This record gives sequence, C-alpha cells and structure tokens, in this order.
Amino acid sequence: MSMPATAMTDGNAAVAGMNGPSLSDADFNFLRTFVYEHCGISLGEHKRQLVQGRLVRRLRALKLRDFGAYCEVLRRDPQAELGELASAISTNVTAFFRESHHFDLLTNELLPRWIAEKKNGGRLRIWSAGCATGEEPYTLAMVLAEALEKHGSHVDAKILATDLSPQALETARKGVYPIDRLEGVSVERRRRWFLRGEGDYDQYACVHPRLRELVSILPLNLLHDWPMQGPFDAIFCRNVVIYFDKPTKQRLFQRYAGLLPEGGYLFLGHSESMYGLNDNFDLIGRTVYRKRSA
Ligand SMILES: C[S@@+](CC[C@H](N)C(=O)[O-])C[C@H]1O[C@@H](n2cnc3c(N)ncnc32)[C@H](O)[C@@H]1O
Repeated sequence: MSMPATAMTDGNAAVAGMNGPSLSDADFNFLRTFVYEHCGISLGEHKRQLVQGRLVRRLRALKLRDFGAYCEVLRRDPQAELGELASAISTNVTAFFRESHHFDLLTNELLPRWIAEKKNGGRLRIWSAGCATGEEPYTLAMVLAEALEKHGSHVDAKILATDLSPQALETARKGVYPIDRLEGVSVERRRRWFLRGEGDYDQYACVHPRLRELVSILPLNLLHDWPMQGPFDAIFCRNVVIYFDKPTKQRLFQRYAGLLPEGGYLFLGHSESMYGLNDNFDLIGRTVYRKRSA
C-alpha cells in the first residue's frame, strides 16, 4: 500500500530539475502541445521548471536517458503514457468531506428530495468526474448510504467515479487510506464506514464494503468520448477544470449540461467558476450550479 499521491511544490520541482537532465525548448514545446491536446491543460512558459522536475522521476522509472527519448515514447503511443504524464504534471490532492458545504446540501436538501421522487422507480446517479484517489466518491457514498437508510433504501442509486490518472484510480479501487487521511471524517462516521487495519496495517483504514458497492470506478479522460449516456442527478467536477483553458472549460460545461436533466446540479471546486462560460446554469450556492429549464 502507498500513500495517495500529493502535489510537489514548484520549489521542489525546480530543485529536482537542477539535478536531472534538462528540458530543451523543442521538447518543452512538444510536451506543451501534447498535454494541451490530450489533457486540456495549458502549460505556460513559467511551468517549465515544474514540468522538468516532475517528469524526471518518470524518466527514471522508464529508464530513459533524456526528455527527447520521453517525447519519442509519447509520439510512438500517445494513449499508453497519457495517464502517467497527466498524473505527473497535475495534482491529485483531495480529501474526505473536502468543501463540506456541498455534502451538507446533499444531506439536507437534495438526497431526501431525489429519494422521495425515485421511490417508485427511477435511478439516482451521481458522477464524480476527476475523482483522484477516491476520497470524493467515497464521501458521496457515505452521505448517500445514510440518506438511503433514513429516507427509503429501495432506490436504484449509484455513484460513478472517473479519472485520467492510473495511479490515482488504483488507490481509489483499493479504498485503503492512512488513518491521518480521515481527518475530515467525524468519529461516528469513521466507526460506521471504515474498517481499521490490523498488525502492519494498524495505521490504515479500509472503506466499508457498502461504500464500494455504491461506487463504480472507471478510467476516463474528460476530453475524450464518454461511454455513459446519463442522465445524472448531479455531477461533481471539483478542482479539475482549474487546469483547463477557456475553450476546454466551455466545451466541458456544455457536455455536462447535456448529461444533466433540467434542475440537475453541477458542483465545482472552491476556486472554479462558470461565470461567462455557459448560460445553461444558475449559480444557486457556493460553487453549486443548477441547470435551467429550457
Ligand atoms: C485536484 S484533483 C481533484 C479531486 C477531487 N475532485 C477533489 O476536488 O478533491 C484533480 C483530478 O483531476 C484529474 N484530471 C485532470 N485532467 C483530467 C482529464 N482531462 N480527464 C480526467 N481527469 C482529469 C487529475 O488526474 C486529478 O486526479
């Protein structure tokens, strides 16, 4: 088991870069174009040290001599290395009950309403798009499981969790976290929804099988085609579009609008906004958007 990936700071990256092979203009330009086309992430010139520092570890893992050889790997088979590249340059930082006001809105208002509406058939679907290491979808699963117990359990309810990063998804699938990662989880919920490890694993906790049952974890690049048809009652896409440029965000929000019914919800991260990017939604709370009626 390994700790969930965390972000390196720009400072660390610069130091790592100084010790490793250097990134030529041509290779940096290739990487910028590649990352933009395949991940929607626009890397400014100021990100050069960061990219160099973060990719040095990837070069070592692949036993490559320099960045030119790494660019060749990407040219030969762009899809095979894409997830690793995206993991290296973006951040998987996340937490249980991150931006907890979103989960309060679900618990106090949205889930009771949706469950009442769907009691006699109908599916309740939530998508965690950019789920990283799984804390977000498992938090959704906790509030969903509690709401189903409280308001009626005979509802077909599921959470879809997707991400581009293979390492992040591996952690999400395992559902095993160091105890100190459970900081945002109340003592009551820790008892209810986590199983404490034993022996060598006594500093780890594993998510309850009921939570796993509610969450389907799949690899998905948000810029590529999506296999699912929707509709979703809510889409969580928090702290993901922060890396995307304006046209990429516009396209993504338009596609989300296509998978949400009128009155469906889109949750963004604390520093993200849809302002001026899409007019299908009304802002109804802190980074909470509701799809308008046509
Ligand atoms: C900072 S984490 C956010 C995790 C969680 N949503 C939260 O707010 O705590 C951003 C995640 O977005 C994912 N990501 C970035 N670009 C993506 C793309 N084009 N397709 C799918 N996932 C992407 C990254 O791999 C990373 O795991």
